Amino acid sequence: MATRRPATDQAELDEAAFAGLLKAIRRNRFLPVPPDERNFVGDGDFLAIGCEFLRHFVELGALATRDRVLEIGCGIGRMALPLTQYLEAPGGRYTGFDVVSAGIEWCRDNITQAYPNFEFLHLDFNNELYNPDGRLTDQGRLPFEDESVDFVFMTSVVTHLDPGYTAFYLREAARLLAPRGRLFATAFVLDGANRSLVAAGKSRPAFYLDGAGPHYIADRAHPMAAVAFDQDWLLTTARGAGLTLQRPIAYGHWSGRIAENFQDVCVFQRAKAN
Ligand SMILES: C[S@@+](CC[C@H](N)C(=O)[O-])C[C@H]1O[C@@H](n2cnc3c(N)ncnc32)[C@H](O)[C@@H]1O
Repeated sequence: MATRRPATDQAELDEAAFAGLLKAIRRNRFLPVPPDERNFVGDGDFLAIGCEFLRHFVELGALATRDRVLEIGCGIGRMALPLTQYLEAPGGRYTGFDVVSAGIEWCRDNITQAYPNFEFLHLDFNNELYNPDGRLTDQGRLPFEDESVDFVFMTSVVTHLDPGYTAFYLREAARLLAPRGRLFATAFVLDGANRSLVAAGKSRPAFYLDGAGPHYIADRAHPMAAVAFDQDWLLTTARGAGLTLQRPIAYGHWSGRIAENFQDVCVFQRAKAN
């Protein structure tokens, strides 16, 4: 007769299998990585950064293999690429959109070709830095059904948005998430400790705290190059949209704190319907 494995052993086995998967993805030379000249999303090891976030999505955001996933601001597939090895079709599927059409083209040609449960859309929202001539604004609506996804994520995107767009995506994430759905978002969040560190010149980027807020910028010539948000404003806006923090914010080391992540990680869940 088969003996039932204690739950802790199973959890350890799952953890070991997941660590093995991450290692295998990092070593997988057949995964398409965009050439440097097409990469507009940042420096560093493209695949390693994607794997680091896949680990955060699972460990902090409870991403499951059969989840329906939406990525806001998917760039050139840095997060999508490792996800192709984790999400299991037919239940598990991914949609990513971005305002830069060249990134979407690359993802369609190189990811959707091999993984049809991964789709990419170009949506022409304007952004002073990434898409200055974009015709869509934060007054629109995303072209997806209510409650149609389990997991929404934005990595290094809120850090390039103004308050209007940030509020818009919080509202839209709340609309699109199914019950128990989660929003995983990285940001530069100004709580009391981070505000003091920024004021003391310890943070990278160095933000200007002299405005009225709720957002602060690092580069006056290019305001959307790096944007930080007042924590109270962010959490109040999320709550107003129907999202509550699922776990304490995992603060990053951008501010000068000692931490593993660079940006702060916020995981929200859809508030219970009344
Ligand atoms: C630093 S990149 C990060 C890309 C991707 N999330 C990643 O981590 O690899 C910032 C991304 O935000 C996108 N973006 C800027 N404004 C946006 C908006 N209004 N809506 C959606 N995406 C936007 C940019 O086009 C760019 O791909």
